Amino acid sequence: MYCLRRVKCYAARMNQSASGDVAERTAPSAGLRIGDIAPDFSARSTAGDIRLSDYRGRWLVLFSHPADFTPVCTTEFVALAQAAAQFDQRDCALMALSVDSLFSHFAWLRTIRDRFDIEVRFPIVEDPTLVIGRAYGMAAPQDKDSATVRTTFFIDPEGIIRAMTCYPANVGRSTPEMLRTLDALQAVQQGQVLAPANWEPGQPLLRQPSAKLDDVFAAKNQTDWFLKETRGGAQK
Ligand code: BEZ
Repeated sequence: MYCLRRVKCYAARMNQSASGDVAERTAPSAGLRIGDIAPDFSARSTAGDIRLSDYRGRWLVLFSHPADFTPVCTTEFVALAQAAAQFDQRDCALMALSVDSLFSHFAWLRTIRDRFDIEVRFPIVEDPTLVIGRAYGMAAPQDKDSATVRTTFFIDPEGIIRAMTCYPANVGRSTPEMLRTLDALQAVQQGQVLAPANWEPGQPLLRQPSAKLDDVFAAKNQTDWFLKETRGGAQK
């Protein structure tokens, strides 16, 4: 179940923060960190009643959007619906969330289907009380309106948050970058390897740097001991 303790921690931290609106608005994720267990919740969605923990065993991209029937959000949902098979190929489910009601979600999906000829089949959760949005830091307790920001959580098959991003309402997310992040997370999960900047599947990964001084001195060139490519890891 979704954890109230985290919300309390978050509120406490907000109170401790330096005075001033800017400082109080810097917390991106209700205290959630990479490596934390994603707080569980049950909710109504466009795909029926769902529970986050039922997604264990698969990757999950859980993401919030500010509101239904808004321009940027509509482009994101069209793009994600078009890319749904690519997420599925990576054994990754998609789950969206906003404060709007289930019937607003239905009406929006019908409009998207009729206008863009694409059916959004991944679940969109209704979160009218923002209880989930606040637990995940998609909306902060002192926010003046109920719109969630564009927060994305990459959750692994054990239910652990492996990456998160936060975009403002006026900038849409990149579906290719979401897929690339997922590819990189899946590649590094399989071994002691690292994904370098701009890494794409098929490109070399990096080895973990050595923690032994002997390896530092034995390395052929200056950088080999800490920066060396490897073909290990997942190749797609
Ligand atoms: C949009 O999706 O276009 C949007 C949503 C909320 C505020 C501003 C823009």
